[in-house]
Amino acid sequence: MNEMTAVVARGGDLAETRLPVPAPEPHDLLVRVEAVSVNPVDTKVRAGGSRDEKVLGFDAAGVVVAVGAETSRFTVGDEVYYAGDITRPGSNAQFQVVDERIVGRKPATLSFADAAALPLTTITAWETLFDHLGATPDSEDTLLVVGAPGGVGSVLTQLARTLTRLRVIGTAGRPESVEWVRSMGAHETVDHHELVPAVKRLAPHGVDWLFTSYSGGRIEAFAEVLRPFGHIVAIDDEHDDLYPLKAKSITWHWEFMFARAGHGYDLAAQGALLDRAADLVDAGRLRSTVTRRLDGITAASLTEAHRLVESGGTIGKIVLTR
Ligand SMILES: NC(=O)c1ccc[n+]([C@@H]2O[C@H](COP(=O)([O-])OP(=O)(O)OC[C@H]3O[C@@H](n4cnc5c(N)ncnc54)[C@H](OP(=O)(O)O)[C@@H]3O)[C@@H](O)[C@H]2O)c1
Repeated sequence: MNEMTAVVARGGDLAETRLPVPAPEPHDLLVRVEAVSVNPVDTKVRAGGSRDEKVLGFDAAGVVVAVGAETSRFTVGDEVYYAGDITRPGSNAQFQVVDERIVGRKPATLSFADAAALPLTTITAWETLFDHLGATPDSEDTLLVVGAPGGVGSVLTQLARTLTRLRVIGTAGRPESVEWVRSMGAHETVDHHELVPAVKRLAPHGVDWLFTSYSGGRIEAFAEVLRPFGHIVAIDDEHDDLYPLKAKSITWHWEFMFARAGHGYDLAAQGALLDRAADLVDAGRLRSTVTRRLDGITAASLTEAHRLVESGGTIGKIVLTR
């Protein structure tokens, strides 16, 4: 087991290569990757076109095959799921090393494929709801989820419904996404093509909290649909002028789920939230968001998955299994 097959991004494309199996650092697990999912961040890094070869892939589910000297949470044979660290080689490989503090136990009731759909979006949704918005089981405010059919919106809607008393309004621009967002638990849906009038009809005094994965050109619309002292959590890469939010004292939060791993900050919080999410799954209170499965973690199947994600119409998540 000295060498493995991996898929690397190279100059904007994906290609298979042979690499040495990585050795675990003291806090690492060496995981045999059984399934991965593809997120928009994979496509953004690949499309960046760097000449340096990089193993992409963040979400993974697999089996621990070796552990570092200072690990304590997992042992050889354990089934795990995680979203990894953008600064290290990714999951599009036969084996991957990952710091055990950002790893959760795989939900026992899910296949590797169904589990691989969840970690990155669950971390993002969890940090949005609890770290940024400070939601509690008693929260009864109204949360508008802009981008609700996507991977993050799908988990955020489910967590808000199962862990709080929030009223959830999700955007959905097509009949199939209306159906999906409802199935994730949203109380109501609005068409994002007519966001302001649709939200004002449902929440005439303004929504309290707004999550957005599609912010571009929408700051004035967000200022219109939020109440004074409302909160926005944004996860996309748009950089609009935020001044229109001042007149209503609206707070803007950035959520970036790689912030903890990238800065070595409170890593254990992510392992803990993934374990909590696994408990919710096994209790039937959170479900996988897989909508499409592809065979093989190969350059060809990953290229197809990247193409689908880049089309912008993905509902839920696309997963690939070995
Ligand atoms: N900061 C972080 O930590 C973090 C984490 C995860 C993802 N992200 C980023 O968040 C974004 C979303 O990712 P995702 O995986 O959740 O979802 P996604 O795959 O981008 O979501 C696709 C869905 O969004 C809806 N949509 C498309 N354009 C829209 C628009 N202009 N307004 C509202 N909805 C629209 C579409 O459904 P309908 O048109 O049918 O409604 C589509 O099915 C990406 O840019 C990703 O890189 C950031």
